[in-house]
Amino acid sequence: MNKGKFYITTPVYYINDKPHIGSAYTTIIADTIARWRRQQGEDVLFLTGVDEHSQKTVDAAKKNGEELTAYTDRMAGIWEAAWERLRISNTDFIRTTEARHSATVGDFWERLDAAGDIYLGKYEGLYCKGHEAFMKEDELIDGLCPDHKTEPEFVSEQNYFFRLSKYQKPLLDFYNENQDFVAPANRFQEVKSFVEAGLEDISFSREQRDWGIPVPQDPHQVIYVWADALVNYISSVGIEGWEEHPADVHAVGKDILRFHAVIWPAMLMAAGLPLPGQIIANGFLTANGVKISKSLGNTIDPLELSARYGVDAVRYFLLREVPYGQDGDFSEEKMKERYNADLANGLGNFAARVLTLAEKETLACDPFDGAFEQAVAAMHAGVIKSMSGFKFNETLAAVWRAISFGDHFINEKKVWAVSDDAARRRMLSDLVMLLERIATVLLPFLPETSAKITGAIRREGNVLRAKKIETLFPRIK
Ligand code: MSP
Repeated sequence: MNKGKFYITTPVYYINDKPHIGSAYTTIIADTIARWRRQQGEDVLFLTGVDEHSQKTVDAAKKNGEELTAYTDRMAGIWEAAWERLRISNTDFIRTTEARHSATVGDFWERLDAAGDIYLGKYEGLYCKGHEAFMKEDELIDGLCPDHKTEPEFVSEQNYFFRLSKYQKPLLDFYNENQDFVAPANRFQEVKSFVEAGLEDISFSREQRDWGIPVPQDPHQVIYVWADALVNYISSVGIEGWEEHPADVHAVGKDILRFHAVIWPAMLMAAGLPLPGQIIANGFLTANGVKISKSLGNTIDPLELSARYGVDAVRYFLLREVPYGQDGDFSEEKMKERYNADLANGLGNFAARVLTLAEKETLACDPFDGAFEQAVAAMHAGVIKSMSGFKFNETLAAVWRAISFGDHFINEKKVWAVSDDAARRRMLSDLVMLLERIATVLLPFLPETSAKITGAIRREGNVLRAKKIETLFPRIK
């Protein structure tokens, strides 16, 4: 693998609706990691995009009374703009209707076929449109899909199958050799148990559909939307690019972990291509205990929230409130509480105090004094440890401990009232440099705020200057 290169992806999202807070959550996680790695000096490729070949797209276009391509163009634009607004730093945006993607999917299919892993068979079973997947009778509750609360349709057709069963042993061997392949660890255990229980071949095409990528050897069939969508990770970099450097991290939600940790690696093995480094799975966000989803219609709009609280506040809340991998409940009450306590009274107030006190002073960039040295070292150690395990809430907690340290210091020493100029300046330069470090560590999490703070601090040779800034987080009633 090329050193210094880092490739991270989000899922490609269905476009039957605009982004909601759940899709934003996965994307913000990937963005935080991407920004963090970039900060470490790595050359980061960050891919996100949209999954257009779902039956849901066709249904949604019809419901909107729009022509299919007009609908997909409009929705792709909405998703791309939403990520821009949420300060997502993706370096590519892929649509599965693009020519570069269908060409790659075709090539990929030929590789599976050449390996003898595609065969024609008959499929009969229950299909859930919400999941775009077949379901087993025992997965249903009262005949309904438990996630989408809809009745799966009975499907009986001739399909091309992928010989997934052949990869049970190779997958288990691979998992054994790659102990960090799936994070968090408890999710990896679920994946292993699922594969140990045995794998069935999987239907990889659908009959008589005109929406999708045709099966190369049989244009009456289209490639199953998942077999199409997963390949997007290759389409962005090309097959050769992938061979040289496959994705380091696929960030996904727990609902689609099996597709990424079982089916995708098996497809890559069959195609003779390298496997991704790691699949990381976030939990679900719920609203009042119910999964937020486009299909259920209980969505919360991240852009609308950002307009009221600021983009950074939305990013902060999601990463601070929900421990990575676990489910978390979104409520505006909790968001408001954290906003006022952590952002307005915490970071915002600390930054304002330091910059206001330091504005009229001429300070020096001397090394930190003892207690500051320790507080900064503790913060950095906490950040490194938690970031490598995707424990974003702990990273933020470590930063907020440094903020409290600074606040206490100001109160305890009554910095504003110290009349000895040299002593006061010494304290203030420590405080300004602490604030600067805090802002730097926060860059991957709160990009706008971080830039505002670092923009207010200037270093000229050994001279440190600070200027007041507008209130970062006005209190919300
Ligand atoms: N199109 C497929 C993915 C193909 S990837 C090759 C898909 N799309 S989706 O739009 O339905 O969901 C994509 C991802 O959005 C989920 O895996 C998950 O990461 C995220 N989430 C959607 N709803 C979510 C919540 N309510 N909470 C947290 N994440 C959620 O599946």
